[in-house]
Amino acid sequence: MQRIFSGIQPSGVPTLGNYLGAMRNWVTLQDGHECIYCVVDLHAITTWQDPKLLAGQTREMAASLLACGIDPKRHLLFAQSSVAAHARLAWIFNCVARLGWLNRMTQFKDKAGKDREAVSTGLYVYPNLMAADIHAYHATRVPVGDDQKQHLELANDIGQKFNHDFGVEYFPMIEPVIMGVAARVMSLRDGSKKMSKSDPSDQSRINLTDDADTIATKVKRAKTDAFPLPSEVDGLAERPEARNLVGIYAALSDTDLASVLGEFGGKGFVVFKDALAELLVNKLTPIASETRRWLADPGSVDAILRDGAGRAAAIADPIVAEAERLVGFLQV
Ligand code: AMP
Ligand code: TRP
Repeated sequence: MQRIFSGIQPSGVPTLGNYLGAMRNWVTLQDGHECIYCVVDLHAITTWQDPKLLAGQTREMAASLLACGIDPKRHLLFAQSSVAAHARLAWIFNCVARLGWLNRMTQFKDKAGKDREAVSTGLYVYPNLMAADIHAYHATRVPVGDDQKQHLELANDIGQKFNHDFGVEYFPMIEPVIMGVAARVMSLRDGSKKMSKSDPSDQSRINLTDDADTIATKVKRAKTDAFPLPSEVDGLAERPEARNLVGIYAALSDTDLASVLGEFGGKGFVVFKDALAELLVNKLTPIASETRRWLADPGSVDAILRDGAGRAAAIADPIVAEAERLVGFLQV
């Protein structure tokens, strides 16, 4: 059975983008794989996180994953900071990855913006930690949204350079698993920007915790153009906002763009948005209430994370110990 690893940052409430790009696929992949899912709090602190909120956000992210259908008995769910192997291997990878490779990472450029001198050095080496997350388990398949593709290519470059430098075939190749018509969900306010939990405008995203009225209002206010929906997929090419909403509808109803346009082509956004809001409410509000149910008993979530961390360490510790031996650290 192939081993899957994926992670999500507890830097806010999960969005519809996280759900369609990652969380929902994590649930699907549980059949037929051994899955290791991680709330990546070490990655979260590469940008400022309020220490009074971080622990709660980590627990809330775990509760959302459980609410989506992650099964912690058959698979692993834990917080990254509670398994030391991630940071140990990340240090080795800091010494394997080349500066030039990291300089090409588009997510760093986006997140650092104009003020590069002021961001944390952690943000810069973020992809090395991500490579360590995966390689610490010898995982081979990684379900992510489209925006993480470049980081996974880097993870392969790092694994291969390690193998080459130390003359071994130790870290396997990783295959990205990018699923569905909504692998990149865009902001509701700007069809050229990714929907993000850290966007300052709450109107730009649907949160998995939003209630029915909030979802309906956000969909109604979502930016669109003045034309009816096209009947053909080609007609979406120059219409990013329309493409985004149709993609969300298709993903949530498990069809493709063409069949959504078959139903709504020629109709205006008022009709389409009503249908989309209803679909979102039907799919997302049960997850929100299930999340609340988990959080009513925080001890049960923490116990799952503690158990997951123990089982994760049992896999990762020997793999990372062998990497340390290959590097040449004294074995005592
Ligand atoms: P993050 O919120 O950055 O920790 O991302 C966690 C997972 O959600 C990753 O697999 C991302 O690729 C995915 N993801 C985040 N935002 C989006 C989005 N707007 N569309 C699709 N996938 C996304
Ligand atoms: N960098 C990913 C994101 O923000 C989260 C992440 C951390 C991850 N480690 C990972 C995803 C390992 C897949 C595998 O989206």
